[in-house]
Amino acid sequence: MAIQKLLLVFVFQLMFVLFVNGQGLKLGFYQKTCPSAEAIVKQTTAHFVTRAPSLAAPLLRMHFHDCFVRGCDGSVLLNSTKNNQAEKDAFPNQSLRGFQVIDAAKTAVEKKCPGVVSCADILALVARDAVAMIKGPFWQVPTGRRDGRVSLSSEALNNLPSPFFNITQLKASFSSKGLDVKDLSVLSGGHTIGTSHCFGFSNRLYNFTGKGDTDPTMDPNYIDQLKKKCKPGDVTTLVEMDPGSFRIFDSDYYNIVRKRRGLFQSDAALLTDNETKAYVQLQATSQGSFLNDFAASMVKMGQIGILTGNSGEIRKKCAFIN
Ligand code: HEM
Ligand SMILES: *[C@@H]1O[C@H](CO)[C@@H](O)[C@H](O)[C@H]1NC(C)=O
Ligand SMILES: *[C@@H]1O[C@H](CO)[C@@H](O)[C@H](O)[C@H]1NC(C)=O
Ligand SMILES: *[C@@H]1O[C@H](CO)[C@@H](O)[C@H](O)[C@H]1NC(C)=O
Ligand SMILES: *[C@@H]1O[C@H](CO)[C@@H](O)[C@H](O)[C@H]1NC(C)=O
Ligand SMILES: *[C@@H]1O[C@H](CO)[C@@H](O)[C@H](O)[C@H]1NC(C)=O
Repeated sequence: MAIQKLLLVFVFQLMFVLFVNGQGLKLGFYQKTCPSAEAIVKQTTAHFVTRAPSLAAPLLRMHFHDCFVRGCDGSVLLNSTKNNQAEKDAFPNQSLRGFQVIDAAKTAVEKKCPGVVSCADILALVARDAVAMIKGPFWQVPTGRRDGRVSLSSEALNNLPSPFFNITQLKASFSSKGLDVKDLSVLSGGHTIGTSHCFGFSNRLYNFTGKGDTDPTMDPNYIDQLKKKCKPGDVTTLVEMDPGSFRIFDSDYYNIVRKRRGLFQSDAALLTDNETKAYVQLQATSQGSFLNDFAASMVKMGQIGILTGNSGEIRKKCAFIN
């Protein structure tokens, strides 16, 4: 009887472990194999982000670009080779930067536990730590991702949403990655930090429908301000997406969008759908749930198309397959 009971307990424990691992990732995946991994990553991220808080934005964006192309498998980190143009070198990569942070974290982790911690996990952890360091929310990152061996610039073009997308296209893009309309409303709030090149929105200032017109859905006063910064054809100037607090992770984005001052058509599009509009208004007008929502949607985004178990590999250097 006692033995049967013990056996039953054992079977339940086994089922529980299998269930928890069912998603492939788990909290503290490296607890036994590299207990200091998360602390080392955090320390490295702090080293860079406290000196240059504006680095947090490209680090967050890098994780998003990784996850939307082939899943969160570190493919965004791979360099092009003689025979292959990698995601990094696709057009939407423009201004992806911060690779030195990932490389430094990987080097530090490898020193302690060689060949154990994936670049995909390091990127997910760095993005989390960087956001938390600029007053954003903190979330637990389930780990255990493995690194992919393929990175194609054509896939970046086909899988990343464009700033010219309307709400239908945005919903389709997110839905194809298993993210719902709420996730779209929430994750767009990532644009509360960082900067954009003029070309992501200059069509709205100068030639919206090919008749030398402006986008009627953008605040005309804001259009005048932006025209002073972005002359036609400007490919170098950077504009703050949340002017004044583009280095602080807050919920200003929703106020900006509500005031019709979102930079991209894809930001403005959130006002063209009942569900996304309701979310924008809620976060803009009340002490909302944005920071908590963002944490939850980031965990969800971090699960897209992951490689686990024996798939993929643990890269030795993040820019190269083994
Ligand atoms: C909804 C669809 C999205 C579109 C169309 C979009 C598009 C863009 C574009 C065009 C830029 C400017 C790049 C440049 O010119 O330098 C940008 C920047 C940025 N995006 Fe998004 N994005 C989207 C979703 C996201 C998501 C889900 C996140 C993260 C959760 C994110 C985080 C960022 C950040 C932080 C920046 C600033 C980067 C920097 O300062 O270097 N975006 N995005
Ligand atoms: C890999 O690519 C990054 C960013 O594009 C570049 O800075 C770095 O020098 C490259 N590394 C090597 C070894 O080519
Ligand atoms: C982004 O792609 C362009 C080519 O479209 C390339 O010249 C540039 O170096 C890439 N940026 C990074 C950070 O790899
Ligand atoms: C969104 O864009 C697509 C492709 O250009 C178009 O077919 C569709 O009608 C647009 N939808 C809305 C709601 O504007
Ligand atoms: C505006 O767009 C139209 C159609 O694409 C083009 O023919 C025209 O030259 C553009 N005008 C300017 C000022 O760029
Ligand atoms: C959006 O809301 C308005 C007003 O509440 C309603 O009349 C309309 O049918 C809704 N549209 C959709 C697509 O749900």
